Amino acid sequence: MQSNILIIGGTGLVGKTIARILHSRNPELTIFIGGRKGGNSENNLFIDVTKVSTFKTILEKNIHLIILSVNDKEDHVLRFAIDHTIDYLDITKPTPDLMKSYQLAKNQSITSRIVFSSGWMGGIVAGLVNTAALKMKIIDEVQLFVYYSIKDKAGESSAHFMAENVAKPFVNYRNNQPISIKHFLNAEYYNFSFGIGKRQVYNFDVPDLYILNQVEKIPTVNVKMTYSSKWVTWILGAFQKIKLYNILSFKERKMIFAASGNGDQTVFEIIIKNQEETKKISLQSREGQAELTALSAILHAEKLLKTDVENKVYFSHQLHESTSLLESLMDYPSIFIQIES
Ligand SMILES: NC(=O)c1ccc[n+]([C@@H]2O[C@H](COP(=O)([O-])OP(=O)(O)OC[C@H]3O[C@@H](n4cnc5c(N)ncnc54)[C@H](OP(=O)(O)O)[C@@H]3O)[C@@H](O)[C@H]2O)c1
Repeated sequence: MQSNILIIGGTGLVGKTIARILHSRNPELTIFIGGRKGGNSENNLFIDVTKVSTFKTILEKNIHLIILSVNDKEDHVLRFAIDHTIDYLDITKPTPDLMKSYQLAKNQSITSRIVFSSGWMGGIVAGLVNTAALKMKIIDEVQLFVYYSIKDKAGESSAHFMAENVAKPFVNYRNNQPISIKHFLNAEYYNFSFGIGKRQVYNFDVPDLYILNQVEKIPTVNVKMTYSSKWVTWILGAFQKIKLYNILSFKERKMIFAASGNGDQTVFEIIIKNQEETKKISLQSREGQAELTALSAILHAEKLLKTDVENKVYFSHQLHESTSLLESLMDYPSIFIQIES
C-alpha cells in the first residue's frame, strides 16, 4: 500500500495522534501534515482551510487521501476533494454542519470516496450498533450514554463546538418525530460500567442522532452525557436552566468549556432495544478521547486504502462489513468493549 496521506489540522490534539498511530501501523505511507504554521519542511504543508489558494500544494504533493481534523465551516476542503478526485475523511462536523455537507456531497458527481466520520469518537457508534444487533430483526430504540472526563486532554476546537452550540436547540427522535431539546437539560440517572457507577446524565448533541435516525432508520434515538465531575455536571445544567448561555458572549462560553487535563479514560455505552430484547455495548478507551477518535479515523482510512471501496459518499460505519470494526477496536491495547444481552 503506497499512498500520500494529508492530515489537515495535523498539529492539533487529534491530528497529531492520527499521524502517530497511522505511521506506527502503516510505516510505508507518506504522511503530510497541513496547518497554518506549516511550510517549513517537505512533509509539513502550509494549508489554511479558509484560503483555497493554499490548497495547490495538495495537488503538487499528489495527495490520495485527506483526513480533515480541523473545522472547515465553508466546506472548502470537501469541495476541493470532490473537484480533484481525492479521497476525503472528515471527523469534524457537528450535526448541522454534517447535514449541510452531506447534502452538498450527495448532489455532486462523485469520483472519489467521501467519508463523513463525525459521529461520536470518530463515527464508530452506528457500526457498533449494527454489529451488536446482527441477530435482532428490528431496532426500535438506541440510547447513547457518554462519560466525558474533564481530566482528559481536549483540543481547543472541542471547546469551540460547545461554545457555538450550547445555547441552540437541537433534536432527538421519538418514534421518528424530531423533538426539540437543549444541551444539559432533561437530567436522569444512568449506571455506567467500568467502576464509574450511577451518574446524572443530560441531553447532548452528537451527529449520531441524525445518523441513527435518518440513515439507519431507527425510530427512537437519544443521547445523554455526564462529566467526570458531578459538580461540573450540575453547574452546566443549572446554567442552561437559568438561560445563562443565552446572554454570555462566544468568548465567555468558550472559556467555560476550555478545560483540558493531562489525560484520562473516556467511556460510552449504547443501549439497543426492540420489543423482545435489550443489548448493551460498553466501550472504554483508557488513553482517552483523542486516542479513540484517532484510531477510529485510522480504521476507516485503512478500509479506504486497503480494500476496493466504490467511489461514493459514505458515513464511516458503512465502510465496515459485519464484525470487522468491532474486532479491530478490540485488538487495540487500550480499548475495552463489553457486549451484554
Ligand atoms: N468525531 C469525533 O468524535 C471528534 C472527537 C474529537 C475531536 N473532533 C474534532 O476534530 C477536530 C480537531 O480536534 P482537536 O481536539 O485536535 O483540535 P485542536 O487541538 O484545536 O486542533 C486543530 C488544529 O487545526 C489547526 N488549524 C486551526 N485553524 C486552521 C485553519 N484555518 N486551517 C488549517 N489548520 C487550522 C491548528 O493548528 P494551526 O494553528 O497550526 O493551524 C490546530 O493544530 C475538531 O473539529 C473537533 O471538533 C471530533
